[in-house]
Amino acid sequence: MEKLSGGRDGIYRTRSHVIRPANQTSQTIHSLLSHLHRQGFHQCPKPIALDHEHETVSFAEGQVYNYPLQGNVASKQALTSAANLLRQMHDASASFVEGLRGDENWLLPIRKPAEVICHGDFAPYNLVLNGEEAVSVIDFDTAHPAPRVWDLAYAIYCWAPFKTHEFDKMGTLDDQIARAGMFCKAYGATQGMLSNLPDVMIERLQALVSFMREEAEKGNAAFQQNLEDGHHLAYEKDIQYISQNKQMFLTELTK
Ligand SMILES: Nc1ncnc2c1ncn2[C@@H]1O[C@H](COP(=O)(O)OP(=O)(O)O)[C@@H](O)[C@H]1O
Ligand SMILES: [Mg+2]
Repeated sequence: MEKLSGGRDGIYRTRSHVIRPANQTSQTIHSLLSHLHRQGFHQCPKPIALDHEHETVSFAEGQVYNYPLQGNVASKQALTSAANLLRQMHDASASFVEGLRGDENWLLPIRKPAEVICHGDFAPYNLVLNGEEAVSVIDFDTAHPAPRVWDLAYAIYCWAPFKTHEFDKMGTLDDQIARAGMFCKAYGATQGMLSNLPDVMIERLQALVSFMREEAEKGNAAFQQNLEDGHHLAYEKDIQYISQNKQMFLTELTK
């Protein structure tokens, strides 16, 4: 068994499978992944097995990148193919939302109107690339019912990227806005989504910081460590950056 890097400890690969720690959401997530495949969306792991400790899903062949975005993952092709995958995943998940019974478990709070299942962390490090082409979405732990724009806003924050940390940032503000526009176009965002995007992005990041604080207060060690490492400060700086440049961002997106 090979240990996989790029995420938490405790993630392993056998020849064609990935073994990850299970949690209270795993059963719901496995149902979601099965549903996506039944709907013809095959660019996500297939659920293979689940017990109290571990989940097993299929391994997606390709390369996974992280920040700073360099090489294939920084290409326009990676950006637009990622946006295409997000659109297809959302579309395939809409019928899952219609079938929800209310006894599902999600890590993040349901957000109304629950149009689709949002991935919740549609960042470069949760996509698998083949060359410059995004070919699979992985790590559905943070998936939850929410409006499309909730996921779109966070994905664009990660892919533009509107990040200020010296390790994560890429390009000028103009480049970032141009990349945001390309992502929206490839997704097929409506005018309504575009006109709300900067505000939703800010709200999404504020919700993330609140969630980190709440979980840390409840005793969640991973989030306590995140706060100690100052992750919330980076998000707060990015909120400020987006707020300061909101008008220019909005003008470019909606013209
Ligand atoms: N189904 C998969 N197919 C291919 N690689 C995977 C898969 N699941 C995880 N990985 C690899 O393992 C790493 C960590 O997995 P991930 O599920 O993203 O963990 P975490 O939940 O800690 O972020 C990923 O960056 C990726 O390289
Ligand atoms: Mg991950």
